[in-house]
Amino acid sequence: MIAAFPETTPLIIAVDGPAASGKGTIAKALAAHYALAYLDTGKLYRAAGLAVRLAGGDPADAEAAAAAAAHFDEALLAVPDLMSSANSEAASIVSAHPGVRAALLARQRAFAAQPGGAVLDGRDIGTVIAPHAPAKLFITASPEIRAARRHRELAASGDARDLAAVLADINARDARDRGRSAAPLRQAADAALLDTSDLAIGPAVQQAIALVEQALGRDRQQQG
Ligand code: C5P
Repeated sequence: MIAAFPETTPLIIAVDGPAASGKGTIAKALAAHYALAYLDTGKLYRAAGLAVRLAGGDPADAEAAAAAAAHFDEALLAVPDLMSSANSEAASIVSAHPGVRAALLARQRAFAAQPGGAVLDGRDIGTVIAPHAPAKLFITASPEIRAARRHRELAASGDARDLAAVLADINARDARDRGRSAAPLRQAADAALLDTSDLAIGPAVQQAIALVEQALGRDRQQQG
């Protein structure tokens, strides 16, 4: 069932969290539930990382990475290598450059502001891209559970990797995403926390909807 919204301003739902926390699945389900457009912002950073790799460049090169973020070929958003573990690493490295984040900012804000409303998932949606979003979720799960999920996803896409190596990658990406100075991964002060470690997809989505409803109820009270 699609919930009705009496608000005149478009609804924005910000969903942030670390890799394989379940934020993508939850964000997509929220978009379907509320009939909102959906953007996986990780794909933009992944496309910038892939563009640098395809050009034979180094993701640590701030200038090359910023140019790639500003001009990457949109077709890259659909290539299978976008989601590979090699490209996760490149995305995580390019995403720490302030020039890369600046190049992708306007596009994400424009998506968030579209008249029909939107759900965006990423690392800095509630803190930087849409700090005024009326509903914000921060999705987490233990590193071991996230590594097991990512390991299954990679295996299903033919990218067979050792579970210990996947866990090491996840920990390295978390440390980079949390430790960078430009828009680090962190829970916004007004974001609701949802730990999906012990939750199957259905209950996790139900809890996410309940948290969004609570946030929207608070927002309406503040407006009224
Ligand atoms: O979400 P996903 O794991 O696909 O993102 C890939 C990488 O892109 C992350 O590890 C993170 O470094 C970066 N990213 C980011 N900000 C976002 C989305 C993703 O820095 N909003």
